[in-house]
Amino acid sequence: MGNTKEIIESYNQKANERDRLTVQDWKVAERNTFLSFLHKENKKSLLEIGAGPGKDSLFFQEKGLETFATDISVEMIKLCKEKGLTAKVMDFADLDFPDNHFDAIWSLNCLLHVPKMEIRGVLQEIKRVLKPSGLFYMGVYGGENHEGIWEEDHYTPKRFFSFFEDETIKELVSEFFTIEYFEVIPKEVVGGKFQFQSIILRK
Ligand SMILES: C[S@@+](CC[C@H](N)C(=O)[O-])C[C@H]1O[C@@H](n2cnc3c(N)ncnc32)[C@H](O)[C@@H]1O
Repeated sequence: MGNTKEIIESYNQKANERDRLTVQDWKVAERNTFLSFLHKENKKSLLEIGAGPGKDSLFFQEKGLETFATDISVEMIKLCKEKGLTAKVMDFADLDFPDNHFDAIWSLNCLLHVPKMEIRGVLQEIKRVLKPSGLFYMGVYGGENHEGIWEEDHYTPKRFFSFFEDETIKELVSEFFTIEYFEVIPKEVVGGKFQFQSIILRK
């Protein structure tokens, strides 16, 4: 991807700082929502893309899932491994797994770094490694149509973000998956400039 080198550098530098942050309550609730979908259907294996320091993979592993954490930042993957997770440096645009491999895929706030021109290729790659009827959680900030470098970012280099309006992201993901669940978490709960789009999809 066009911005990959900068993203790796930004997140490598912030890996330890992000690892020390407490997970917000609304994100804990997001995990539990997806977990209830997984339990209902007896799903066993879960791939996390853009796992960061691996807190969500650790949660799902502790709940009995067989997890595989991936991220493009080597420093993030070091932190995943320190938690005892199975983890590997990997670009979600090029997943090193066979077709139809995982029961479930979890992605929290990582696909918002993909330029709009490239998002379809990434969604196709995610779909490829997901088993038929598999479930894919996609959580991203959004609600507005925008993409570009975030000039006020305190990460170095400043990161690229891409955001979609609710109807546009629904249309986009529907090209690849069936929407099982779509909820908006308002800005007041998220505590930032953007709302959050919580989406559960089925292959
Ligand atoms: C905002 S952080 C979120 C991390 C974690 N999911 C969380 O919620 O704490 C975004 C993560 O996506 C990763 N990432 C960005 N582009 C990626 C790519 N092309 N392939 C894999 N990981 C990527 C970054 O390295 C970073 O760890």
